[in-house]
Amino acid sequence: MKVLVVDAGGRGNAIAHAFSKSEKVVEVYVAPGNAGSEFFPKCKIAEIDGKKIQSIRAVEEIVNFAKKKEVDLAFIGPEEPLSLGIVDRLEEEGIPTLGPKKEATILEASKCWTKDFLASIGVPIPKYKNFEDAEEAKEYIKEEFKDGIVVKADGLAAGKGVYVCGSLEEALKAVDEIMVQKKFGDAGKRIVVEERLRGIEVAFTAISDGKCVKPFGHLRDYKRAFDPEDFDAMRDYYMALNKKFYTRVEIEKLFKEGKLLNPNTGGMGAVSPHPYVDKEIEEKIMKEVVEPVIKKFKEIEGKKFVGILYPVIMLVKEEEIVPKVLEINVRECDPGAQAKLPRLESDLLELSLAVINRELEDVDVKFSSKYCVAVCAVSGALRGREGLKPGYPADHYTNQPISGIDEAAKDALIYANGIAKGYATTGGRVLTVVGEGKNLEEARKRAYFAISKIDFPGIRYRKTIGMDVE
Ligand code: AMP
Ligand code: GLY
Repeated sequence: MKVLVVDAGGRGNAIAHAFSKSEKVVEVYVAPGNAGSEFFPKCKIAEIDGKKIQSIRAVEEIVNFAKKKEVDLAFIGPEEPLSLGIVDRLEEEGIPTLGPKKEATILEASKCWTKDFLASIGVPIPKYKNFEDAEEAKEYIKEEFKDGIVVKADGLAAGKGVYVCGSLEEALKAVDEIMVQKKFGDAGKRIVVEERLRGIEVAFTAISDGKCVKPFGHLRDYKRAFDPEDFDAMRDYYMALNKKFYTRVEIEKLFKEGKLLNPNTGGMGAVSPHPYVDKEIEEKIMKEVVEPVIKKFKEIEGKKFVGILYPVIMLVKEEEIVPKVLEINVRECDPGAQAKLPRLESDLLELSLAVINRELEDVDVKFSSKYCVAVCAVSGALRGREGLKPGYPADHYTNQPISGIDEAAKDALIYANGIAKGYATTGGRVLTVVGEGKNLEEARKRAYFAISKIDFPGIRYRKTIGMDVE
């Protein structure tokens, strides 16, 4: 069978790799993919007449490719093509596709809608309120602020629309950035203001055929750009970003006063399985979050969810542990998929076909008990022709030559997020290096041993992935 994976980054390459392990799979095309899409047997970049697909948003190009190559199954990675309706279009053309239809992407595409929906069906969530007016939001924040508050743009903002605020000033500034300066355009027309929770954060995934839903692995995601006390790296970043000189002591002070933040990213690393999630917690999350969402989405809203449901959960200790939902995504996680899918023991093709044929009930979803630690190498601070750039998640140089990939691949899996042939960097996140081991420590050692072989100008990666830090 021929499979098409739609994705541009490391997640897509991990999905393609998982499909390639199935004996029934002959070829896996990745659209648009990157030079790392061809690291694995059977996996290739999708091309029509020698031309690559332009982007994950080129829905009609992708549909044409799928028809021309007569692919038997498509699997969609990122949220953007899903919310553009790529599943609807592929299915109209008779191509079985794993992913939610456009109408079901509202669970990720509108945080305001989803919070109201979760509240109405009794799924545990933080205390929240939605706003369309900046002044009203600010009044509420002033009343509610205790030791932190979270402000979120309603719509898709590439993971950047969430402000976890430690001070009142920061929260008010967040409202202005989103609603007044319109940093995220229409995605910021409405906002959610919610209580800041403290607890253990879990990235949980489940797979559904619309009728039945099963756990699909969990992980710990590391979203902060820098290691907790890495003031040297934060100094490089903020000097370039603010075009200002800081001493290390100043940076540390500004950070401790909450005036400079350790920035949030799309993800700097991940560990699967999540070290705190046992069978009991998994069952609790399924029962209290995942199952009601799938069931009530259909019963109350008349919307079927087919695909990967990925709620971000804070385990909060009250009288017992309560899994409170921070947000819901309708897709696989990046770099979470890179840490999770190498542990999948079930055949991904068979599983996907079961979802498409509404027969998920009859198949087992199995993961091995080994650990995987995924560490992202990103384009960090670098001085070049355009001066000093701060690096990911802010402005960064690309087209830097990469060395050591083959050497690193002897000890770890390498899933490329943004590389061109040759190899050169093309984005903020460049490579995800995944170490496997029978326990967390062994997996961590492998990942770090392998990533130490890789080099490119400006390379930066966190040293604390897998440790008990944010
Ligand atoms: P989200 O995109 O909603 O998952 O938010 C991005 C990140 O912000 C999450 O992964 C959390 O680390 C953090 N976050 C979001 N909402 C809250 C909250 N209510 N309390 C504490 N942290 C939060
Ligand atoms: N790593 C966060 C995400 O995929 O949404």
